[in-house]
Amino acid sequence: MRLPARVRMVEVGPRDGLQNEAAPVDTATKIAFIDMLSDSGLPSVEAGSFVSPKWVPQMADSDRVLAGIRRKPGVSYPVLVPNMKGFEAALAAKVNEIAIFGAASESFSRKNINCSIAESLERFAPVAGAALKHGMRVRGYISCVLGCPYEGEIAPTAVADVSAHLLAMGCYEISLGDTIGVGTPAKAQAMVDAVAARVPREKLAVHFHDTYGQALANILATLERGVSTVDSSVAGLGGCPYAKGASGNVASEDVRYMLGGMGIETGVDLDALAAAGRYICAALGRRPTGRVAQALAAKLHGNKQI
Ligand code: HMG
Ligand code: MG
Repeated sequence: MRLPARVRMVEVGPRDGLQNEAAPVDTATKIAFIDMLSDSGLPSVEAGSFVSPKWVPQMADSDRVLAGIRRKPGVSYPVLVPNMKGFEAALAAKVNEIAIFGAASESFSRKNINCSIAESLERFAPVAGAALKHGMRVRGYISCVLGCPYEGEIAPTAVADVSAHLLAMGCYEISLGDTIGVGTPAKAQAMVDAVAARVPREKLAVHFHDTYGQALANILATLERGVSTVDSSVAGLGGCPYAKGASGNVASEDVRYMLGGMGIETGVDLDALAAAGRYICAALGRRPTGRVAQALAAKLHGNKQI
């Protein structure tokens, strides 16, 4: 299959990244971070989660974040919504897109959203229906598509089954999450092919955490299988509090650099993206984990150790 001419980059740093940080990040910093990301040309910037604040306290200010950001025309600002209570909050915050999030692993589903896969689908159906009725777009996530921290190997058919349910609920896209970053390219391709038997390839996105350093290779492998939407997190932030061992998402700067070098359009300005990464890293008191961000920062600092 030919590589796509254009890839849509979905930035998940303000949600997947910040949900996993031990130190609290204040609302004003989150707002400035999201505005920098949308100014870099990203078409979608995940802005928060309307989940239980007892489960994920880091996202408890998502309503204030949504109220404070400068919404750029044409940019999507999805938020995670697990149930109708979350949907009501998303509606009040006037979001234009929600994401429902299920799993291909029973154990992970219970750990993350406290219900079985079947119960989660029952919960998501009215959420998706209400969102569509209000003109919102609905994205579907599936976690543990290439392995589960509790169950190990996950069958590609299990991923395909959940994908088909989410598609039937009206999701415009299904994001396939390698939550603990264990996948390798041939397995990632086989999983995408299994899902593509039930969901058109153009409706698939990939969401790789980079725990084992395989994310860029996996992305390239899945682009070869007709995927053209890639989730990533600036500075390589990310992880899931309910997946032991999950580390950061693939860094957006690394994805943008690889795609640019291959002549694949994204509409994203690499320097502006990297600046957003440095901004949030300064606020968190840490270095970006991505190699491109480190290389660009070293250039900025005259190749001195940073
Ligand atoms: P539960 O405890 O079973 O829910 O949690 P409940 O319905 O029994 O309610 C318990 C309490 O939570 C009640 O409050 C509810 O009002 C409240 P109380 O009466 O005790 O004061 N509550 C809520 N509050 C605010 N917003 C809500 C909400 N719902 C209930 N929407 C629940 C079930 C789903 C709520 C919980 O498990 C939860 O919030 N889980 C979210 C976990 C999460 O956000 N994980 C990270 C995101 S997923 C991820 O990172 C993976 C991804 O990146 C892809 C990948 O990498 O694989 C997407
Ligand atoms: Mg994730």
